[in-house]
Amino acid sequence: MDPGNDPLHEEPHLPSPTLWPLGFAVGIVVVLVGLIVDPLWISTIGAAITIVFGALWARDATAELRGHAAPVEPERRAASRARPASAGESAAAASDGAFPRSKFLEAATIGLGGVIGGILTVPVAGFALLPPFLGQKGHKVDLGPMTDLTEGQWYVATFTVDPAEAETSRRTAFVRNNGLTNVGGKQEPSFTIISNRCAHLGCPVQANGPTGAILGLKTIVETTANGKVKFDPVVPAGFGCPCHGGQYDTEGNRTAGPPVRGLDRYDYEIDNGRLILLSTYSVAKVQGIGAQAEIHKYKLAGPGEHVDGIEQVLYPLQPPHH
Ligand code: FES
Repeated sequence: MDPGNDPLHEEPHLPSPTLWPLGFAVGIVVVLVGLIVDPLWISTIGAAITIVFGALWARDATAELRGHAAPVEPERRAASRARPASAGESAAAASDGAFPRSKFLEAATIGLGGVIGGILTVPVAGFALLPPFLGQKGHKVDLGPMTDLTEGQWYVATFTVDPAEAETSRRTAFVRNNGLTNVGGKQEPSFTIISNRCAHLGCPVQANGPTGAILGLKTIVETTANGKVKFDPVVPAGFGCPCHGGQYDTEGNRTAGPPVRGLDRYDYEIDNGRLILLSTYSVAKVQGIGAQAEIHKYKLAGPGEHVDGIEQVLYPLQPPHH
C-alpha cells in the first residue's frame, strides 16, 4: 500500500519553515559587525532586528501553548478520524482541542534549557566584557600655574594622573606654551600637549634634543592636587621611539617608521590660571604649528590603530582609555 494513502502512516512532525530564525541570526551578525564598525548605529540596528525577529520567532514557537494551533490540513484530520485511537492517545487527548503532552515537554525542555543557558552565560559574559566599559572616568590633572611655562618653550612634563594609584599612574607629556591666540575675538591661552605613548605599539616616545641641564634652563617642580609635577625644558627636533624607530615631528606627525598615525594629544582647560589636563584623544595628522595648527582629531584609539581612511574599519571596539 502506498504509504501516502495509509491512514496509519503519520508524517513525522516538522516545524513549519519560517524566516524568523534567519532574521534573528542576521540581527546577531549585524550586532557583531557593528561592534567593529560602528557600535552606536550599526549595533543598534542589529539589536533592533534581533529583537523584532526574536519576538516573532518566540510568538510562532509558543502559538500552540497560547492556544493558536496551526490549522490542520483536511486530509490529515480525516486520516486521524479514520484511525482508531489507542488507549494511550485517548487518555492523553480527550478531545480535539487537548494540548499534546509531547508538545508540552518539548516546549518545557527548550524553555528550561534557555533559562539555564541564560543564567550560566549572562553573568560570565558580563563579568568578562563589561568591566573595561564601566567605571572609567576621565581624570583632571592639575599641572600648576600656566605662567610658570615660558612661551614657545617645550617641556617634558611628568605627573600622576590619579594620586590614589601613585606611581602606576605616572605619565609623561610634551608641553609647549603657544602664548595667546584669538578665539572668537577673545584672546585665549594656547598649549600644545602631546602624549608620549607611541602610536605603533605604545612604547614611551622621547624628545630628540637637549634637555634642561644642557640648556641652563631651570627644571620646574610643582606640588599640586595631583602630587609632584615636574617640567624639564627641552629643545626637540622631533620625537623618537626607541622600540622600533618610529619618528615624529614637533607637532607629533609621524615622519618615519612603523607608527600608523600621529601622537595622541591631551585636551586641557585653564582654571584660575592653572593648566588642567583633561582626556587624551587621537590624531591622524596636524597641519600647521602651535596655536594655528589644524588638528585632525579622533576619539582615543589604541596603539597601532588607524583612525582615518579605510583601515579604520578593521579594528574592533576598544574599551575606553583615559
Ligand atoms: S612602539 Fe614605537 S615604533 Fe614601535
